[in-house]
Amino acid sequence: MKYYLTTPIYYVNAAPHIGHTYTTIAADAIKRFKRMQGFDPVVLTTGTDEHGQKVERAAKGAGKAPEEFTTAVAAEFKKQWDTFGLQYDHFLRTSDPRHHDAVRWLFERCQKNGAIYKGSYTGQYCVFDELYVSEAKPGDPCPDCGRPTETVTEENYFFKLAAFSGRLLELYEKQPDFIQPDTRRNEVIAFVKQGLNDLSISRTTIKWGIPVPAEGNHVFYVWFDALMTYLTAVRGQRDSEGHDLWPADLHLIGKEIVRFHAVYWPAFLMAAELPLPKRIFAHGWLLFEHDKMSKSRGNIVRAEPIRRVMGADALRYFLLREIVFGQDGSFSYDALVGRYNSDLANGLGNLASRTLTMIHQYRGGAIPPGSDDKIRQVACETIRAAAEAFYNFEFSKGLEVIWSLISAVDKFIVEQGPWKFAKQQDTESQAALDRTLYTSAEALRVATILLAPVLPESCARIWTQLGMTEPLGSVRLDALAWGQLHAGQEIGEVRGVFPRIDAKPAIEKMRALEAEVAAEQAALLGNAPTPSAEAASAGSQITIDDFVKVDLRVGQVLSAERVKGADKLLHLKVDLAEAEPRTIVAGIAEAYTPEQLIGRKVVIVANLAPRKLRGLTSNGMIVAASVEGGKPVLASFLEDIPVGAHLK
Ligand code: MSP
Repeated sequence: MKYYLTTPIYYVNAAPHIGHTYTTIAADAIKRFKRMQGFDPVVLTTGTDEHGQKVERAAKGAGKAPEEFTTAVAAEFKKQWDTFGLQYDHFLRTSDPRHHDAVRWLFERCQKNGAIYKGSYTGQYCVFDELYVSEAKPGDPCPDCGRPTETVTEENYFFKLAAFSGRLLELYEKQPDFIQPDTRRNEVIAFVKQGLNDLSISRTTIKWGIPVPAEGNHVFYVWFDALMTYLTAVRGQRDSEGHDLWPADLHLIGKEIVRFHAVYWPAFLMAAELPLPKRIFAHGWLLFEHDKMSKSRGNIVRAEPIRRVMGADALRYFLLREIVFGQDGSFSYDALVGRYNSDLANGLGNLASRTLTMIHQYRGGAIPPGSDDKIRQVACETIRAAAEAFYNFEFSKGLEVIWSLISAVDKFIVEQGPWKFAKQQDTESQAALDRTLYTSAEALRVATILLAPVLPESCARIWTQLGMTEPLGSVRLDALAWGQLHAGQEIGEVRGVFPRIDAKPAIEKMRALEAEVAAEQAALLGNAPTPSAEAASAGSQITIDDFVKVDLRVGQVLSAERVKGADKLLHLKVDLAEAEPRTIVAGIAEAYTPEQLIGRKVVIVANLAPRKLRGLTSNGMIVAASVEGGKPVLASFLEDIPVGAHLK
């Protein structure tokens, strides 16, 4: 039986961060688990979403042609998955000509079946930003630049989404696990029940996209294009028994893109008379200090520094153990190192080295015979419960179960005290020593197999140290049973798999590398480095001496204008009661229009080292409160206060 799964295809307007890595790691773990369940082949598709206005503008900002820009960023994603050892089968870029053909094919099938019509789209458009503002009403300003939007009408192709409401609701009803978890399923059902509007699936205002057949100036709307990658990657491919790889067995996504996957995508496929994916699983967000980690919030953490300092498995373990899959969860370096030391170094790593060292010491490196019944029972129950949890994508629960086996064996070793038996030469003590060692080694073998999908690198090393010759990847879950470790088997050389990590220097190193990787990525993307979340909040306690170093002053905005090509930036001239007004470039354009700012009193960090942004030198920083999930709010005073006043 084949199993086909996918990750979202990631936008290339930003370099990968651990949010993207999270999904791809989870997909890789599922792939490995499915193989262990006996599915063959298990095929994983990932890739990059390269068309549309956002990417076009990011390329422009970087001073590159879209093709060159997207090629560079796509390579960065691919490199990230490769260095992490993630086993994808297809890395599909939407710019791939094969994909262009597939999207046109989908469109033509939908058209042939009467699901497409030409209509006129009327909406608000920002001429300056060349952007549709879907949520705006006539007269509303552009949320990006604050300039007035214009009502435009353009001819578009529409997809008859509304006509599919009934069939979609029937699908959710008949296949309750089509969308998981249930919270997401309920949201989708409520959304469809409200009534669907037809969907405009082409644009004439964008150039960077897949041209619509027989139309000179239309390109496909990004989602009509992007979703199709899942099918493009395996179109026409079959397993060795002739089964089509399509439909996908699983689309793994983040919760913010459920609607596209659970409403639009099945509707497109229904219209084209193509088989529907079997399941959509939406996981939660990785948060940093309560906010979704994202480039636009400037609070991202990159995976590469963590890999270099702690290894890929440390991050895999943390993400899958700490966060309940399907719910939001927080990331912090402290929690990462804490988990590593308590569970990997002191838990699994310690069990492995202690067990194997004793086998060398007391039994000349050969597995002795004997087995403890109580631990056997715990191990058998662990196999069942962990497999069930992983089957349901409950990684955290599955890992918890495996760790209770590890703790039970640790406790068992301490209770038995093999070092005491070793001193007694009587047959009973020697048999008890054999039994303790065999039981620990066998439990270690069982744990290693169960953990391999989550900790592939480390488990392969423990496996070799156990002296196993059969490849770890070929072990099947249904054949796994207690007692398969052969007495007499020679074990290998013992090497610590998870050395304890000293938190402070490790975190410092990761922070330093984070800045380095951020700079590398910024050079690639041709923009200012996205500050790391950690850099933003590092060292939260300061002394008064630190504080007085910051020169905070009241200023008054004399002029404000948008910075061309930057959605968030405003170029301000601020009077600080100095000889000349200061130039300050502030990332507040999404919250304030230039008009709202002129004449306003603001708080400025006046002694910040000058910084160049988009060719402008900013001589200071404006103070604003950042609200969870919202826009910045400027600090201001209720009382009148003269320009130039110092804040102490
Ligand atoms: N291009 C679309 C997807 C098209 S799929 C046909 C897109 N791309 S994206 O680059 O924004 O990636 C979104 C996905 O990345 C999320 O759905 C999720 O899988 C992952 N994540 C990005 N940031 C994340 C977090 N902060 N937390 C968890 N997952 C995150 O949307």
